[in-house]
Amino acid sequence: MIELKDVAVAFDDVTAIADVDLRIGDGEFVTVVGPSGCGKTTLLRTIGGLQEPTTGRVRIDGQPPTVAQANADVGVVFQQHTLFPWKSALENVTFLRTLAGDTPNEADARGLLRSMGLEGFEGARPAALSGGMKQRVAIARALHLGADVLLMDEPFGELDEITRDELGVEIRNLWRRERKTVVFVTHSVPEAVFLADRCLVVCGRPGRIEATFDVELPGPRDTDVFGSRRFQEQVAAVRRTLHEAHDR
Ligand SMILES: Nc1ncnc2c1ncn2[C@@H]1O[C@H](COP(=O)(O)OP(=O)(O)OP(=O)(O)O)[C@@H](O)[C@H]1O
Ligand SMILES: [Mg+2]
Repeated sequence: MIELKDVAVAFDDVTAIADVDLRIGDGEFVTVVGPSGCGKTTLLRTIGGLQEPTTGRVRIDGQPPTVAQANADVGVVFQQHTLFPWKSALENVTFLRTLAGDTPNEADARGLLRSMGLEGFEGARPAALSGGMKQRVAIARALHLGADVLLMDEPFGELDEITRDELGVEIRNLWRRERKTVVFVTHSVPEAVFLADRCLVVCGRPGRIEATFDVELPGPRDTDVFGSRRFQEQVAAVRRTLHEAHDR
């Protein structure tokens, strides 16, 4: 369980987020959607213990997030990938687990790279990979850590739309198999709806949680969903909220 109580984060001359009250249950898939600069990354970093809240309190399973982070209970995929340039894709996936004092499992790491469409690139250094491929290595790395909580900050930002859709399906499948708690930031409304059980709309300056949508889509979430009426209605509703908040 992730809990934020009355959280605000202020930097020198800007309050990035304010009045954030949020509870995320174990195994939930929550997306956070909102315009650029509304505090999505700040919110995610605060949940992950990488940013201290100015006021309020954050707990992951009752512990401060810094403790959860130190115990490798939280995996983070950053907006900009943070791979080690001198290590291969495979080594990048396994290395964090070594750092966390755990034993990497090479077969698992290879399997994850394969599921991210990177078979054949295990030995490649980040410099030899495209932006989207690097981001997929970073996702495999977070999954390999085995953390119960995954925080993802626009992990598909640099990907083309087709790959993005396919990885979205893949992430949902992984989540269904492993039931991790996922908080996924994006500024794509269709992506936020497609992936979520619950979609948080964040906007304003400082950013606040403007609305919450429970996403119910019948049947499996594959790319056919994009054409369904229910999906399009939900996307339209989220978009409307964003526009209304923006015009205020
Ligand atoms: N370390 C920092 N120091 C000062 N201001 C910051 C810092 N990090 C973020 N901010 C400010 O906080 C606000 C929210 O930034 P944040 O990066 O959280 O937005 P975002 O929603 O993730 O945007 P984007 O969609 O462009 O990634 C912005 O006004 C930004 O300038
Ligand atoms: Mg951001």
